[in-house]
Amino acid sequence: MCGIIGYTGSGSAKEKILDGLEILEYRGYDSAGAFFIDEDNFHIVKTKGKVSNLKDEVKKLEGQEFPVGFGHTRWATHGEPSRENAHPHKVGKVTLVHNGIIENYIEIKNRLSKIGYTFNSETDSEVACALLDSYFKENAHPCVAIWEAERVLIGSYAFVFSFEGYKNELFAIRKGSPLHLGRGSDGFYLASDLTALSPFAKEFYTLKEGEIVEISTSDAKIHTKNGVISPIWEKNEIRYQKTGKLGYSHYMLKEINEQPSLVRSCLSGYIKNGLPNFEKANLSYDALEKIKRIHLVACGSAMHASLLGKRFLEEHAKIPCEVFVASEYRYSPPLFEENTLVILVSQSGETADTIASMRYAKDRGNLTLGIINAPGSTLAKESDFCIYTEAGAELAVATTKGYLTQALVLYLFSVFLSLNSKKINEENAKSLVCTILSVDTTIRKTLARQKELSRLAEKIKNAPSLFYIGRGLDYYLCLEGALKLKEISYINAQAYEAGELKHGTISLIENGTPVVAFATSEMLFEKTVSNLKETKSRGAYTILFSGKFSNDMDKIADECFLLDGNTREELIFSLILSLQLLAYECALQKGCEIDRPRNLAKSVTVE
Ligand code: M6R
Repeated sequence: MCGIIGYTGSGSAKEKILDGLEILEYRGYDSAGAFFIDEDNFHIVKTKGKVSNLKDEVKKLEGQEFPVGFGHTRWATHGEPSRENAHPHKVGKVTLVHNGIIENYIEIKNRLSKIGYTFNSETDSEVACALLDSYFKENAHPCVAIWEAERVLIGSYAFVFSFEGYKNELFAIRKGSPLHLGRGSDGFYLASDLTALSPFAKEFYTLKEGEIVEISTSDAKIHTKNGVISPIWEKNEIRYQKTGKLGYSHYMLKEINEQPSLVRSCLSGYIKNGLPNFEKANLSYDALEKIKRIHLVACGSAMHASLLGKRFLEEHAKIPCEVFVASEYRYSPPLFEENTLVILVSQSGETADTIASMRYAKDRGNLTLGIINAPGSTLAKESDFCIYTEAGAELAVATTKGYLTQALVLYLFSVFLSLNSKKINEENAKSLVCTILSVDTTIRKTLARQKELSRLAEKIKNAPSLFYIGRGLDYYLCLEGALKLKEISYINAQAYEAGELKHGTISLIENGTPVVAFATSEMLFEKTVSNLKETKSRGAYTILFSGKFSNDMDKIADECFLLDGNTREELIFSLILSLQLLAYECALQKGCEIDRPRNLAKSVTVE
């Protein structure tokens, strides 16, 4: 993870770096740091915690302006979150910031220790810095040292460096981790994502692996092994808007509330004359017609959305689908048949394991489709095709609208595939499109019931552990419900297939253990209710989220939340909103840090 921003130009490096770091904070917020340099001196400022702490420290440099600088926001991998482990690191004549992991850092550290290097932090990044310093010779260009180090370093990295004697220049290299060069009216920029570039640079160049970029206040050069080239600029289409929370107490709540209007805005670009149409995504309809098997690969909530996608695709398009956790995909190892489509689902488009899975599938000749939110991200660029989920910037670490729009797009794509392969006719397809579009009204109703969910949250918020149970697709929703609760309210929530509980886990049920059951399918209702009752008989405090499938709904569990809507789709999406609000309310009542939960980062760019 970690976010990097660098600047050289006629503007104020302090301002650019701090503004850029604020945008990049979603990548980690354990500590932050910055480096500023001018003709006469340099400053390294580091703080534990958020970028706002760094801002306070940088204020102390009041009255001083710098044309060159870089900054870093950290998600700890090697070494606890602390000021010492925060970046930038300076060893000898080299200062750097790093995003990624150096796998062979211990071996390098031992070697460097023997020749006199000492280390102030526990990080792999400081070791890389020392390695660069050991290779940097006064009479040679910094590229020589960077390429020497590149041959030795194993792992993933994006580095920005400053070398003594090169006060006006910054250097950068990447492997595995993203890094973009930006050109603005007042200088050049380096950033981990295009959003952080967008307020400053309308043009960008994505560094290729092995290239070294050198920026000065007036020029940008790319050093390749075959000589120096000029960057070929692309237009940065991202328009970052600093909207703030718009009156909501948290970004998560703001993003939850955006969901009803997102249903149409996310899907309408892919609907023409009432039918799904993915021309905008440049999909090859011919290639898709031949698809015999689908792999959906993703992490966390995106993987949970993929499970919903599996259900929609199998139900509508009748194509066998398998869902893989991206970090396990390459090791399963997956069996590819001819005409396997590999769908990568990711909000950020920068999740390292999902990127590695995409490359693995592509290298083996498979067609890849990204279902991505962040424009211009690595997955969006490198997948053969890309469907954007159009959710807009998601800032809360816990995904809500990101997940919902992934589920919506997968639904529409399933209808598209079934129509494209003539499994359904246009009339059926139109009716399915209407069904999914109509969930906006339903979820608006659920949104208005936040108070009811707040009351339920009061009942479970102090439980040390809790179970979510459901069958079929409801189990997939349980997985998401449990993750949301764990992530932001730190309750040990486990999702279980309702029928599986009695094969061992039911022994954990004690007096008062909350068990929350999900029932959006009338067909599975009775069975799920029986399983819920089994826990109630053993002392569980039971809560049921369900469609109205019985006249005695209020007698089944200790609490019953009747979902909004009538169709299966409406109930599913009403449940999604409910589980998000329930987790939000629990976290709120417990006083947790909702938008920036402990130990997490929004974008997981390390494997
Ligand atoms: O950016 P991605 O969709 O690839 O991220 C995948 C997961 O890291 C993400 O969904 C994570 O599980 C969320 N924080 C859950 O709310």
